[in-house]
Amino acid sequence: MKMNDYVKLIDDKLNEFIQIEEPQTLFKSMKYTVTLQGKRLRPVMCLETCKILGGEIEDAIPAACAIEMLHAQTLIHDDLPCMDNDDFRRGKLTNHKVFGEAIAVLAGDALLTFAPQIISKYSETLSLSTKIRVLNEFFNYAGARGVIAGQVVDIESENNMNIDNKEKTLEYLHLHKTSDLFQLAMRTGAIIAGADDDKIDAVTEFAKNFGISFQIADDILDEISTFEQMGKTLGKDKIENKLTYVSLYGLDEAKCKLFCKLQDCRAIMEKQNLYSDIFNEIIEQIYKRVGI
Ligand code: IPE
Ligand code: IPE
Ligand code: MG
Ligand code: MG
Ligand code: MG
Repeated sequence: MKMNDYVKLIDDKLNEFIQIEEPQTLFKSMKYTVTLQGKRLRPVMCLETCKILGGEIEDAIPAACAIEMLHAQTLIHDDLPCMDNDDFRRGKLTNHKVFGEAIAVLAGDALLTFAPQIISKYSETLSLSTKIRVLNEFFNYAGARGVIAGQVVDIESENNMNIDNKEKTLEYLHLHKTSDLFQLAMRTGAIIAGADDDKIDAVTEFAKNFGISFQIADDILDEISTFEQMGKTLGKDKIENKLTYVSLYGLDEAKCKLFCKLQDCRAIMEKQNLYSDIFNEIIEQIYKRVGI
């Protein structure tokens, strides 16, 4: 399957999985951010991992969509005035700008529990033990030891001159706020494909590196890209005094580090027999966007 085919499949399924129920404001708010046009990288990587490891794409669709819903939840909350205070996301007004802060908070909360329910309800082809394993992965990476931990350290690092080891802190927050969802996506695809532990470890190593690369690129693009390209207000990291690769190492060094990390991703892909045109295309797009 080509990238566009994956995106179309995921978009259709996301639309189908979220129907407007009562209370309508809540479901409209949930559906708003989920169905705005994002790149869909996490669900694509989930499905592609499942495929290259010998699984059926169909079996992983509910889980892949649940991971995109989780991602949308992190975006809704990340954009709130008490977090990054952003007005635009995916080229449109942020959730709280359309629905108000209270509904945006609640829509995020709702997505966090709605998403795993999609896995339990629609993953009919998975055995009970696989389903439990997939749900366990979801809760692990979505929660206090996963993406939320990363977001907490991100917020605590803002405007903070008293961090002992900035390199280590930055590594930690990138690993959790961003890498965790890529690890979740690829591990889920691997588990559904029935991969053995060695393969799951290999996939995790790739996703860890890829996620960190992805956030380094996002930090760089916040400085050098445009609203038209990114669909969100840029230049905010500097204004908010965020701890990022650019603020810590400078633009050129950040680009150098990104280049090396993406090379590492490719090396892991070769070494671990995880080659995929789709992964390659995603990596190529990052090189191109950042101009390295
Ligand atoms: C945005 O993720 C949040 C970060 C981790 C930088 P994406 O850049 O994947 O956002 P969408 O899904 O395409 O909108
Ligand atoms: C976002 O990091 C990570 C999560 C949403 C969990 P950023 O705050 O840098 O993402 P953008 O730039 O707002 O998309
Ligand atoms: Mg943020
Ligand atoms: Mg943000
Ligand atoms: Mg950013």
